[in-house]
Amino acid sequence: MARIPDAFIDELLARTDIVEVIHPRVPLKRQGKEYSARCPFHDERSPSFTVSPTKQFYHCFGCGAHGTAISFLMNYDRLEFLDAVDELARQAGLEVPRDTRQRNADPDTQDVFKALDAAAAFFQRQLAGSDKARGYLDRRSVGEAVRAQFAIGYAPDGYSALKDALGTDPRRMQLLDRAGLFSKNDRGHVYDKFRDRVMFPIHDRRGRVIAFGGRVLEPDAAPKYLNSPETAVFHKGRELYGLWQVRQANQKLERLVVVEGYMDVVALFEHGVTQAVATLGTATTPDHAELLFRNAPDVYFCFDGDRAGRSAAWKALESVLPRMRDGRQAFFLFLPEGEDPDTIVRSEGAPGFDARLQQATPLSRYFFDTLSDGISLGTLDGKARLAERAKPLLAQIPDGAFGDLMQQRLTELTGVGARPAAAEASAPIRRRGSQPLAPPRRSLVRSAIALLLQQPSLALDLPPPYRFVALRQPGIELLTELIALVSIRPEITTGALLEHFEGREDGAALQKLASQSLPGDEGVWRTSLLNAVKQLDLQVVEQRQAELAEKLRQLGTQGLSLEERTEMSSLMTTARELRDAIRTLSAAG
Ligand code: UTP
Ligand code: MN
Repeated sequence: MARIPDAFIDELLARTDIVEVIHPRVPLKRQGKEYSARCPFHDERSPSFTVSPTKQFYHCFGCGAHGTAISFLMNYDRLEFLDAVDELARQAGLEVPRDTRQRNADPDTQDVFKALDAAAAFFQRQLAGSDKARGYLDRRSVGEAVRAQFAIGYAPDGYSALKDALGTDPRRMQLLDRAGLFSKNDRGHVYDKFRDRVMFPIHDRRGRVIAFGGRVLEPDAAPKYLNSPETAVFHKGRELYGLWQVRQANQKLERLVVVEGYMDVVALFEHGVTQAVATLGTATTPDHAELLFRNAPDVYFCFDGDRAGRSAAWKALESVLPRMRDGRQAFFLFLPEGEDPDTIVRSEGAPGFDARLQQATPLSRYFFDTLSDGISLGTLDGKARLAERAKPLLAQIPDGAFGDLMQQRLTELTGVGARPAAAEASAPIRRRGSQPLAPPRRSLVRSAIALLLQQPSLALDLPPPYRFVALRQPGIELLTELIALVSIRPEITTGALLEHFEGREDGAALQKLASQSLPGDEGVWRTSLLNAVKQLDLQVVEQRQAELAEKLRQLGTQGLSLEERTEMSSLMTTARELRDAIRTLSAAG
């Protein structure tokens, strides 16, 4: 995807009022400093969707949906990132930096899209004229409406039907070639890639044709399906067949069903199941997982019951784990040997297929069933093996209730992972779901991070040197990264900051910290932040003092080098200064 400079995004978000963006779409009610409404991203009776004008982000306490004005437009209006940016820029009267629009503005790329579109139209005309191809679709009971909806066509036999019809000059030949529609033999002769095949155009999220899949008509011809190669506009690991049609057919998507084949998607549509998409002859990638969840909270993966299906399902699970933010659910459905969604929906209809979805296995059960396969959980050894297999995978789940529950389940099964209460206090960044009433005892790092999330620009008031970066404590790296980020992007809003960490392990914890509003005002926050940072600095100084003192005790004065003795006295001065500063700051706060 084309890149837009961060500085532009920061400026755009700084000039945009998220309340003005959301309010016309979801009427908001003022509540103190924030606004609230019933969440547009899940069904609820009482409003848990809040919008913060000061932090410039929205957050739903019910389903976990959150983000900036940009992500709101992406999720609510279902816009692509660039289109959402365009929209906001237009409203703010800003011009999106030109070089970033290359991919879309590149006249050559535009022409490749046109060539693909012309090819799709050509194949559709050919279908109309081919009894053989129409007969095939009739036999597979693909009706006229669905043929049109999916722009299904036919590539005629022979080696140059498309080439003769559309490749009328060298420039057009070149564009068709870049669109992936030709093959070349050893002698450099160029000919049609797709011949005597039913053609399924693949659309991107804006409905443009970006590639094709072609199926043979004869039962034993090979390969059964031929797909376009990767081109400038087609990356199969990022596209889902049918997503465009699904979005056209559904106002609001509660679920998406992922199936393996083109015909499965088409047959399900034919029977009124209009939420199915297919990966394009590849395993489910993390990009797919994100795309799926961005469109629907519940995702059902549907596989053949055979070995290949099982292994594809596990790959899909591995791809979704890092995307399992709260509010998202994944299910796995295995079909009987020899069946696929196409045959099932034809014999059992939509109700039969739905009934199977209802019975689908939730990710959590599939996860533990698969991992404990062949392990005897009655033995200590077996428990240890399960824990060992599960841990690296569980670590990929973003912080939140789902991750906590999975961890809890592992503990139930194995007894491994139950921590003594004291250990929890020293792991301040990982969210603990269990004590909602007692206010969490904040570590210094945690409160420094919370303050920065309250108002990122406070980081600009922290003078170097940052001694605390030497500390080995959870959260220190994150704190350092936050400060560095704000110093290079001084205009960054809380919302944009969170976006930066989106999808990372710490993203959900930050989201959580950011969504609470701290008491006090900017002055109070600045004082507390300085105080926390100075206390961390003091820890570093004291640690070093202790090291040197120990050396002194063991070796005597002569055991220390001149540098070390100088260091000792300057550490003493620094420690005194830090303690004074902390006293003053504590009195002020
Ligand atoms: P299947 O062989 O299971 O075919 O391939 P299918 O979807 O049931 O197709 P029909 O019902 O016989 O028409 C599943 C998917 O794997 C990819 C295609 O995406 C196909 O839809 N595939 C399969 C290929 O890309 N190439 C092949 O040669 C076969
Ligand atoms: Mn099939």
